[in-house]
Amino acid sequence: MLLRILGTAAGGGLPQWNCACPGCSGARRFPSRRRLHDGLAIHGARPDEWFLVNATPDIAEQLESHTSLRPSAGHDRTPVIHVVLTDAELDHTLGLLRLREAARIEVWCTQPVRAALDGRLHLSDVLLPYTELIWHDLPSVGTPTRIAGLDVDAVELSAKRPRYAAQNPSHPAWSVALRVHDPDSGGRLLYAPAVAAWSDHLAQELAASDCALLDGTFLDDHEPRRTGISSRTATGMGHLPILGPSGTSQRLAGSDTRIYYTHVNNTNPLVDPDAAEHKQLADAGLAIAHDRMVVEL
Ligand code: MLT
Ligand code: MN
Ligand code: ZN
Repeated sequence: MLLRILGTAAGGGLPQWNCACPGCSGARRFPSRRRLHDGLAIHGARPDEWFLVNATPDIAEQLESHTSLRPSAGHDRTPVIHVVLTDAELDHTLGLLRLREAARIEVWCTQPVRAALDGRLHLSDVLLPYTELIWHDLPSVGTPTRIAGLDVDAVELSAKRPRYAAQNPSHPAWSVALRVHDPDSGGRLLYAPAVAAWSDHLAQELAASDCALLDGTFLDDHEPRRTGISSRTATGMGHLPILGPSGTSQRLAGSDTRIYYTHVNNTNPLVDPDAAEHKQLADAGLAIAHDRMVVEL
């Protein structure tokens, strides 16, 4: 399988339109630092068969910037688009509205995610006059579904739900990690842009993967408070930090799995390529993903 990393930023992107923090200002000064919202396109064995993981507000530009994701010559339109969702957050789902020119949108997600998108955002109602929206249950570990020739299932991560769905019931599958297995190459990917808590199950799934793209929203637990974006800690916002006693880098150091951090917030000092912490992570065998990276598994 081939992963195309379409974007690596957390909600707001880099730069964020209303922000002049050092990260956003740096990205305006140095356009190579810009990051689109985090999402993936994953190809199976056939180059024309692929699916999206999450549909970001940047989705149209993200598809356009990869020639293999454009409609192929001889076909006027990309008729059907397949989208797998890891959660119902706006930065991962607003792109569904931008995909309305498709004849059909097929979406795989968990039950609480669908309830939020249909019950709170009214996606089915809104999209009905434009396109056919087909919902599929995203299966949990061990009972994968096949999409574009790849086996896909979900590891329940947490009950972290979007703010617009705060009144919806709690459920362990509001936020999941996606497992993708290529039956031909044997390659295994884990994608987890929102890790709210560490668990043995997550650690096992990480160890069993060849490559993992993980929550790199905040560098340390106090970053959201220090930068004034929230009164909560990173952990309180549902994103374990990279560094510190509860940080994921301690758990991941020395892992045999290739690990890249993604969903990087504009307040994260790592958006500056000269930040000293890059070396600290590199010494632990860890790296930050960048937009347009391609990984073959
Ligand atoms: C998150 O990752 O916690 C959310 O997407 C935050 C947001 O952008 O609303
Ligand atoms: Mn987010
Ligand atoms: Zn900013």
